[in-house]
Amino acid sequence: MVTDRALEAPLSYAAQHQSAHLEELFEFLRIPSISAQPQHREDVARAAEWLADSMTAAGLENVRIIETDGHPLVYGDNLKAGPGAPTVLIYGHYDVQPPEPLDLWESPPFEPDVRDDYVYARGSADDKGQLFIHVKAIEAFVRCRNGLPVNVKVLAEGEEEVGGPSLAAFIPEQEELLSADVAVISDTPMLAIGKPAIVYGLRGLAYMLVDVYGPKRDLHSGHYGGAVKNPINALAHIIARLQDEGGKVLIPGFYDDVRTLDEEERKILSELPFDEQAWAEEIGVLGPWGEPDYTLIERIGARPTLDVNGIVGGYTGEGGKTVLPAHAHAKISMRLVPDQNPEEIADAFTRYVTEIAPPEVRVEVQTTGGGSFASISDYNTDAVRAAADAYYEVYGEKPVLMREGGSIPVVGQLQSHLGLETVLMGFSSPDAQIHAPNERFYLPNYYQGIETVIHFLYGYAQRFRAEHVEES
Ligand code: BES
Ligand code: MN
Ligand code: MN
Repeated sequence: MVTDRALEAPLSYAAQHQSAHLEELFEFLRIPSISAQPQHREDVARAAEWLADSMTAAGLENVRIIETDGHPLVYGDNLKAGPGAPTVLIYGHYDVQPPEPLDLWESPPFEPDVRDDYVYARGSADDKGQLFIHVKAIEAFVRCRNGLPVNVKVLAEGEEEVGGPSLAAFIPEQEELLSADVAVISDTPMLAIGKPAIVYGLRGLAYMLVDVYGPKRDLHSGHYGGAVKNPINALAHIIARLQDEGGKVLIPGFYDDVRTLDEEERKILSELPFDEQAWAEEIGVLGPWGEPDYTLIERIGARPTLDVNGIVGGYTGEGGKTVLPAHAHAKISMRLVPDQNPEEIADAFTRYVTEIAPPEVRVEVQTTGGGSFASISDYNTDAVRAAADAYYEVYGEKPVLMREGGSIPVVGQLQSHLGLETVLMGFSSPDAQIHAPNERFYLPNYYQGIETVIHFLYGYAQRFRAEHVEES
């Protein structure tokens, strides 16, 4: 395909400003905007301000920081595309996961370091790098004579990594501010380097905290062992009864609302060129595990699951200490699929755990409240077609359609509260090590991402206009 002349200017602007765009991303990455850690509250606020300033510099207008009960939202728009142009709502998050464990980082998490075409930093791929791609694509259009081909609204969140409670409350109240023809989100991986993906399904989440209390203080494990129920042993028994060895969750009612995959979708997913061996090697496991009746891709994207995320109790220091602990704690996540309801699942979990808890201990079950619904995006839309064309222009490959196992709570909310179509066009690589030490962003994807979004905004505007001429 021949690049449309109208794209020459913004594409060459992006090409000429690559090093400036990288320097700016580094500034963004240096701010430790860790939403989960209260001691970083000021840093999260600073990241919001930094982003707002850079959005203004990129040519966004009405830029504002919206205070919430938690971390602020950042909003900006540019609505000057003229009559007949569609409006694109771009969402991303500027908060990051905690960097711990720190000793496993080869370079400090908030000092971006480039090695072998990757920039290493917490938040580089998830999601600052991907969010910033959009800011820079907008800038490329604004700096050129013709301006933006679409109206854009940019909404950035500082609480995505903690479940996004403030944004969930904000969305239903802001129908007008957030009205758009489509929402675009870059916060997902590609299938492989050079192989783009549009993710049309994400899992939801219910997150549970379980506390088991036994004696009022730690006891000598010889003097009392065998005569007092051990809270860690009790917790281990509870956990062992949550899931069978094959991955089936044993909570009554857990699968009641699970939507089964139809044959068409199973076919799409089975045709993905996914290398299971390479996948296993990259994460260092002997091989895949999971529900025998489902493929690996289906297990990740289309089946609900349950995982212990952390477990603490007793003595965990050097050497041995003979102690029967007073307390044990576990953090347990359940990834959900359509049409499971996170509140109902949390209730079912609580009922079941309470019921199977040994009577000699006191068990408290709580949800963190950051639950979210799974989401499915329609992939038969002009916006998805425009995104596919844009990837093709830049990568020479049409994107695959796939489901992913992670959660982006806002996607379901944009769909159900605002009736928006959503397109998830990601630019991180599957080996980006998000949430882990040495998170990294593949730099060619940063520049190609900016190009892809430039193509997308232009191509989407054209498709939209063509559609509306037909209609009138
Ligand atoms: N970008 C991820 C979501 C993601 C990860 C999508 C991998 C597809 C593949 C997002 O930032 C994230 O980590 N979300 C959290 C949400 C939770 C804290 C509510 C998640 O999935 O754990
Ligand atoms: Mn993310
Ligand atoms: Mn994340």
